[in-house]
Amino acid sequence: MTGIIALISWFIVLLVVSKYTYTLHHRMKKAKEDEDETVIHKIARLQNIAYTLVVTLSILGTLIIYYFFIKSTIYESHFFEWMNLVIRWMHITFGIAWIGASFYFVFLENALNRTNNVRDELAGNLWAVHGGGFYYLEKYKLAPKKIPKDLHWFKYEAYFTWLTGFSLLIVVYYFNAKSYLIDTTVLDINAVTAISISVGSLIVGWIIYDQMCKKLIRNKLVFTIAMTVFLIFFAWFYSQVFSGRAAYIHFGALLGTLMAANVFYIIIPGQKRMVAAAQKGLTPNPEDGKAAFIRSYSNNYFTLPVLFVMISSHFPSTFGNNYQWIVLIAITLGSAGIKHYLNAREKEQLSIWVLPISILLLLSVAFVTSPTPNVDGCKEEVTFTQVNTIIQNRCVSCHSATPTDKIWKVAPTGVKYDTKEQILNLKDNIFQRVVVSKDMPFANQTGMTEEEREVIECWINQNAKN
Ligand code: HEC
Repeated sequence: MTGIIALISWFIVLLVVSKYTYTLHHRMKKAKEDEDETVIHKIARLQNIAYTLVVTLSILGTLIIYYFFIKSTIYESHFFEWMNLVIRWMHITFGIAWIGASFYFVFLENALNRTNNVRDELAGNLWAVHGGGFYYLEKYKLAPKKIPKDLHWFKYEAYFTWLTGFSLLIVVYYFNAKSYLIDTTVLDINAVTAISISVGSLIVGWIIYDQMCKKLIRNKLVFTIAMTVFLIFFAWFYSQVFSGRAAYIHFGALLGTLMAANVFYIIIPGQKRMVAAAQKGLTPNPEDGKAAFIRSYSNNYFTLPVLFVMISSHFPSTFGNNYQWIVLIAITLGSAGIKHYLNAREKEQLSIWVLPISILLLLSVAFVTSPTPNVDGCKEEVTFTQVNTIIQNRCVSCHSATPTDKIWKVAPTGVKYDTKEQILNLKDNIFQRVVVSKDMPFANQTGMTEEEREVIECWINQNAKN
């Protein structure tokens, strides 16, 4: 019943929005006849929003209706796989555009020529050659006297990265909360609680961070310390409520949310106020520029840690560790340190120690997470036959050319253990997931025992005889 009501309301909203786009179309025609520039501009913006709504609503509606038809059939996991693929693809594309712009503009800022032949109204200039062309850029101290008609803004990369990222969180973690988000050995909660913690933590995180920026930013040292405590708290907090993998993703989602919210709530509104003031012939408030600059620079420091988290689910030795939140903090600080070194270098400020210390910090993580050999515990020689029996019983229902699992109809990430050769080739990978991070079999659905893990561990320790 609720399904039908939802369907009808969705259809009505879609109709209303489509009707509105027609109205806009007619208003636009009239405005063009009247040659009224401001009205044309305004309607064009409304048209953009309305078209985006029509497209989004149609796609979302179709997907949701489709989902109800295929729910609990063999098509369900295929549906999620494609949703995952498409959204992830969009997410990385927008993310690359956004982080690319962040790298580029911070580089510009750092590398500006501020001294030689710089006009009074300028902060600096920069020559560059790229793609066979020579470019010359100027940065104004505050704003040009007249705002040019075509002014490029950089905001949709940020918004769409966040939107696709959040959609991915829904598709992967909220829909499969029991398998991916919750680990009952960490905290026994139900899906609704887990999802509420997830969403709530992003909102609370932003509120705290925003206040910290506003109150403490004048004092760089205090701000850096407060920020480190903030990061440590959230890395620890997530490790106490979610599965290892979900804890990492949430830490990244939190940083990504802070970055996007910085753009949405601080940087863009500030820039809008500056443009509006300049258009009226007033001097823009330099505080707006400063606040936007600080947020933009702090976003730049988040980029490398966020990128690590986004690929971390491929590396269970990081999140499948007893000290997973400390590992996460060390990697966050180490990679932010590398970004700091790069920024300082672009500013031609020599910083000898930042890079080696950051790299050592990252290497120490690899050292701390390495497995401890257990040769003494292995009394007897393990044979391949023993190992093969375990793998056929515990893994092949998913990792096979012909899986028998209810959900995975194709071998996950193409990993198959049907033949001796396949198992031997992938023995290190098996060791990582079965012995080191212990996150395979998936959610231990096939009920692998500790003894079986030890057999595999001994087999590898004895150089995997066959
Ligand atoms: C219920 C299905 C299921 C079972 C049973 C299962 N796996 Fe997996 N496995 C998956 C899924 C899903 C993934 C991909 C997601 C991930 O990497 O966490 C995966 C990924 C892997 C990977 C990572 C491959 C890569 O691309 O790096 C390895 C290694 C692995 N499994 C080994 C095993 C071993 C060894 C067993 C048996 C002890 C096993 N799995 C049992 C579902 C399963």
